[in-house]
Amino acid sequence: MRAIVITEAGGPEVLEWQEVPEPTVRPGEVLIEVTASAVNRADVMQRQGFYNPPPGDSPYPGLECSGVIIQGGYGFEPGDQVCALLGGGGYAERVAVPWEQVMPIPENISITDAAGLPEVVCTVWSNVFMLARLRRGETLLVHGGASGIGTMAVQLAKAHGAHVVATVGSHLKGAAVCALGADEVVNYREEDFSEKVRADVILDIMGAKYLAGNVRALKTGGRLVVIGLQGGIKAELDLLTLLNKRAAVHGTTLRSRPADEKGAVCRGVVENVWPLLSAGAVRPVVHTTLPMAQAAEAHRLLDSGEHVGKILLLASSPA
Ligand SMILES: NC(=O)c1ccc[n+]([C@@H]2O[C@H](COP(=O)([O-])OP(=O)(O)OC[C@H]3O[C@@H](n4cnc5c(N)ncnc54)[C@H](OP(=O)(O)O)[C@@H]3O)[C@@H](O)[C@H]2O)c1
Repeated sequence: MRAIVITEAGGPEVLEWQEVPEPTVRPGEVLIEVTASAVNRADVMQRQGFYNPPPGDSPYPGLECSGVIIQGGYGFEPGDQVCALLGGGGYAERVAVPWEQVMPIPENISITDAAGLPEVVCTVWSNVFMLARLRRGETLLVHGGASGIGTMAVQLAKAHGAHVVATVGSHLKGAAVCALGADEVVNYREEDFSEKVRADVILDIMGAKYLAGNVRALKTGGRLVVIGLQGGIKAELDLLTLLNKRAAVHGTTLRSRPADEKGAVCRGVVENVWPLLSAGAVRPVVHTTLPMAQAAEAHRLLDSGEHVGKILLLASSPA
């Protein structure tokens, strides 16, 4: 089969569409003929040599895919159309994946668009809802509202009756995020969010750079969930403020979790989020779709920061 190989750590040019060995299907896994995958910021970090796949996972990038089951079991039949949360290997023509991480395509969503759902939906569901327990009427602050993660967080929180504030880097992106339902946007290049926003839950992708501001922006009983470290890994935490607010700081990654934990997240997503997608209350936000062989171009686009939502990679024509 063919896959995108990271030939060495570096820029987008190190991504090459090459002939590689077929994946080995281990006990507990099914094999998917990939229709499409999607680009995540983690793929860029992996390309740069900073984020290796967990032991035993595919060396090729790609944390999610959609496609057709070609070797089933565990309730899956050959021919089933599915999407899956992966530890890696989505940028390929075929991928083996633990059956717990495989989900049906939501009704009324195309198999191509479904490729961009597993990583963002599972990340938002597991952090904002399972961990931080965002409730109706509470305020969620989403950093990077126009990102793949942000566009899903904004929509899901609105669908659950929250007040949503998002940070963005331009007025154009602010308009796009408001169109997805955000109640307020803060342009992080012009304003300090921590002077304007008070939130019950904060979904943070900046890490160290925003830690002090995030703690300041938390309401009493607030929950800060750090899922990204785009602004660095080490910072000072004002514990006195944290104690006085009876607030919590969490940090999580999805990729490193074992298959049964990922499976529990996937089941929650199918039960709670798929109906919202099927009803049109939440939609996949696709910036553009490129052939998988042009993964380097897709990474250049992600690096440029011009996108809103997801960049999809098409491996084969949709069935
Ligand atoms: N822990 C986990 O399990 C997990 C899972 C998935 C993703 N993530 C993390 O979630 C983040 C988003 O991932 P993605 O794939 O959706 O990335 P993406 O689409 O490339 O988005 C990156 C975002 O960062 C925003 N940003 C840059 N500087 C900022 C600043 N100073 N303040 C606020 N926002 C800023 C950008 O905003 P503008 O474009 O508006 O400038 C952009 O929306 C990444 O950090 C990724 O590592 C973590």
